[in-house]
Amino acid sequence: MKQINWNTDIGFPRIWHTKADNMYNKSEDDIELDIYKYGGGRTVYDISHITTQPSVLKIAINKYGKEEISNELQQRHNIKQPFKSRLVPIIHYGNGWCVQPKCEIPNNTRDIARQLQEQFKHFDMKDKSEIYSKNVGLYNNTPVIFDYGGIGFDLS
Ligand SMILES: Nc1ncnc2c1ncn2[C@@H]1O[C@H](COP(=O)(O)OP(=O)(O)OP(=O)(O)O)[C@@H](O)[C@H]1O
Ligand SMILES: [Mg+2]
Repeated sequence: MKQINWNTDIGFPRIWHTKADNMYNKSEDDIELDIYKYGGGRTVYDISHITTQPSVLKIAINKYGKEEISNELQQRHNIKQPFKSRLVPIIHYGNGWCVQPKCEIPNNTRDIARQLQEQFKHFDMKDKSEIYSKNVGLYNNTPVIFDYGGIGFDLS
């Protein structure tokens, strides 16, 4: 299969958009990709075999998942450094789906979560408990959060 470079390959993302847009609200049987992980609001597919950088496609399975994707886009866009680099970027998105770099998930995610809680400890957030072991990993060997739509950073 063709390798996608999301930054330079203009044609393929458009086709991919339509494809992924149509996936939202479909049953898992309709999607020809292997499920990598389940979350409460999104199903996560490993699409590394068709991307230049290891990547995951996250498809909302309910309205919470969909809201989470729009919150993530907005929050990552507005948050300032050094916190920005602690949130995994969204490389591509559409109606009810997004593509993120695939993070490494080592065994010590509890320690990673603790480190991130420490880094964000003075930041105003609606739900600090969302920074926990299941929502964190390593990106370029750096601790990051990949599920941050529910955190509610105070960006005012
Ligand atoms: N960027 C990523 N890299 C590697 N694994 C990921 C990534 N994003 C999600 N995952 C895996 O998929 C699981 C579910 O993803 P995520 O937490 O984003 O979904 P969710 O529906 O918001 O979950 P929940 O609401 O249940 O916390 C994660 O716990 C993690 O194992
Ligand atoms: Mg999660």
